[in-house]
Amino acid sequence: MQISEKSKRMGLSPIRRFNEMARNAEKRGIRIYRVNIGQPDIETPKCYMEAIRNYPNDVIAYMESGGTDDLKKAVCEFYGSFGAEFEPDDVMVTSGGSEALSMVFTTILNEGDEVLAADPYYSNYSTFILSAGGQIARIPSHAEEGYHYAYRDRIEKAITPKTRAIICTSPGNPTGDVLTQDEMHMICEIAEEHDLWVISDEVYREFVYDGAEPASFGLEKEFLDRIIITDSISKRYSCCGGRIGLLISKNRDVMNGAMKLAQGRLSVSTLDQAGAAALFRLPKSYYSEIRAEYEKRRDVVYSELTKIPGVVCVKPKGSFYVTVKLPVNDIEDFLVFLLTEFSDNNETVMFAPADGFYYDSERGKNKMRLAYVLRSEQMRRAVELIRLGLEAYEKKQAGN
Ligand SMILES: Cc1ncc(COP(=O)(O)O)c(C=O)c1O
Repeated sequence: MQISEKSKRMGLSPIRRFNEMARNAEKRGIRIYRVNIGQPDIETPKCYMEAIRNYPNDVIAYMESGGTDDLKKAVCEFYGSFGAEFEPDDVMVTSGGSEALSMVFTTILNEGDEVLAADPYYSNYSTFILSAGGQIARIPSHAEEGYHYAYRDRIEKAITPKTRAIICTSPGNPTGDVLTQDEMHMICEIAEEHDLWVISDEVYREFVYDGAEPASFGLEKEFLDRIIITDSISKRYSCCGGRIGLLISKNRDVMNGAMKLAQGRLSVSTLDQAGAAALFRLPKSYYSEIRAEYEKRRDVVYSELTKIPGVVCVKPKGSFYVTVKLPVNDIEDFLVFLLTEFSDNNETVMFAPADGFYYDSERGKNKMRLAYVLRSEQMRRAVELIRLGLEAYEKKQAGN
């Protein structure tokens, strides 16, 4: 018996790999500031639980494979509130943004087809693309430029005869890079010229800072036939465990293809859809409050990071991540040191090594990704622990 070549090419999540080391440190009584995964500490809005508690039916039955009418209607109202006009038929409810991504790639890719992504990218893209028979291809980006990649020549240079789609994540994970509406327009023009799909992962859409307005490919009205949006309640509403996501497109072939997969898995959680509909109807003030909270954290993290000698980091413009170049040769070795040897007042810190987010892991060997998912004071301490850890690590290396 054997497993598939596809499965062999996939990697394990770079984020979860160090969990056992962290658990062992906790057993030794060490407190760990976990800034490695995008699990926010913000309270899920109460309307979610209320909608579930008030669910009127006695049987938790299967729902329509494409999602409940009420949730799809709430999603359209929400998109309409910022000018993106979609009908319930353009919306499919999925088990998290993850399932939406997986359905999209299975629907549009043939064996060997390429999907362009800015490198570094959300590593699960690679898993979903590989399982759909495709492969990821890179648009380079650099720490010194804040990982911005939306330059026409850079994108066009990456297109090959095998390219079928470009996936944009704005605001970005793992980098915090943000596309403007004009840049989204430019990417659509390139996609039209080369007949590509545009997949827009907008799970962090509202988390943009410094007074910027959230942009959306849903506003690119002339190109809607080639645009596929994936979205989720996980980050926007701090509801990662709700597992409700969305696939949104005006393209009927995509929606019909995705529906075959949706019918195959029957239905998405009935109660969580009821909760999600309430979330999409929250007042606009919710978004400004959450954005202000993350912006405060971003500022603290950035100002603490710039105190570390040798760090390369441009202030991120959105999401709640920052990828940072550190003065180390092997980021995983440094993380292992933090989790197994270092502590300051019985505390240490856990970040995600950035090598797992890179097409070629060597490029991420000296970079970490921080998620600012803890309150500002805890974030300040987390970055301080990185600075103290680096000092101790350098001393240890000098002694070897
Ligand atoms: C860029 C991006 N897209 C999609 C997802 C998937 O989220 P979920 O499946 O929880 O909706 C994540 C999760 O971290 C993400 O960072």
